[in-house]
Amino acid sequence: MNISSFEIIGSREKAIAIVEIPDELKKKQKEIAQEIIKKHKNVKTVLKKTSERIGIYRIKKYRIILGDKNTEVIHKESGCRFKLDPRKVYFSPREGTERLRIANQVKKNEKILVMFAGVGPFAIIISKKQPSSEIIAIEINPKAVKYMKENIKLNKTNNIIPIKGDVREKAKKYFSYFDRVIMPLPHDAKKFLNLAIKCLNKKGTIHLYTIEREDKIEQKAKKIISKIKNHKVKYKIKKVLPYSPRTNKYCIDIKLLM
Ligand SMILES: C[S@@+](CC[C@H](N)C(=O)[O-])C[C@H]1O[C@@H](n2cnc3c(N)ncnc32)[C@H](O)[C@@H]1O
Repeated sequence: MNISSFEIIGSREKAIAIVEIPDELKKKQKEIAQEIIKKHKNVKTVLKKTSERIGIYRIKKYRIILGDKNTEVIHKESGCRFKLDPRKVYFSPREGTERLRIANQVKKNEKILVMFAGVGPFAIIISKKQPSSEIIAIEINPKAVKYMKENIKLNKTNNIIPIKGDVREKAKKYFSYFDRVIMPLPHDAKKFLNLAIKCLNKKGTIHLYTIEREDKIEQKAKKIISKIKNHKVKYKIKKVLPYSPRTNKYCIDIKLLM
């Protein structure tokens, strides 16, 4: 059997493993799951990925190969805890380093908008690092918002306002309000760039996530930046994670200068 990589979400008490099983190993999937559970005692369920991320909520489809039907876990990251069920909401443990990179840039008293907030990882990690910040976190998936509210309590933070709804509607009442806007919706964030700019005060920062081919990212970033009118900007590109061969997830950190 050859399952070289799988993802574990959860804690030492309870976790789930997510595997991709190639067709030629389908008959051995139970054995593979048993091996994972034997090796990782905290894994209570093995899920097989059956689709890429789909729909507006960006959730993958999974099938249980082995274990507990309850796939809700508490994932620990950067000293915070996130309750979630990957069958109902988006969450990627591989993005922990990136969340911390952003959180480390936040200064005292910043006002921050997290568009596409999910179960709250960006908002909560920032909140813990900078309790003096004020964070608005908007998310359209009602189940993710429910988890975000639980996670705010779980992590005892009191400077996050979670908002359920479409960012296009909900952000309107915050025009010219924020110092920083985080846009973690890599396939579509570009479409929301104008909205993010409207939400920023004059010298704000945007973190825009995008998925691009590595030989095209410079050119694509230039094109995105060229859409920003009436502002001087500086920007830098940060590779976040590999996505597929020669294609990566990137963050474009954009600073409005005036
Ligand atoms: C890639 S996930 C990121 C979630 C979270 N920020 C994280 O890092 O775990 C994008 C999220 O944006 C939400 N979303 C998509 N379109 C949205 C919209 N128009 N307004 C608000 N949330 C939206 C999805 O439901 C999903 O939870």
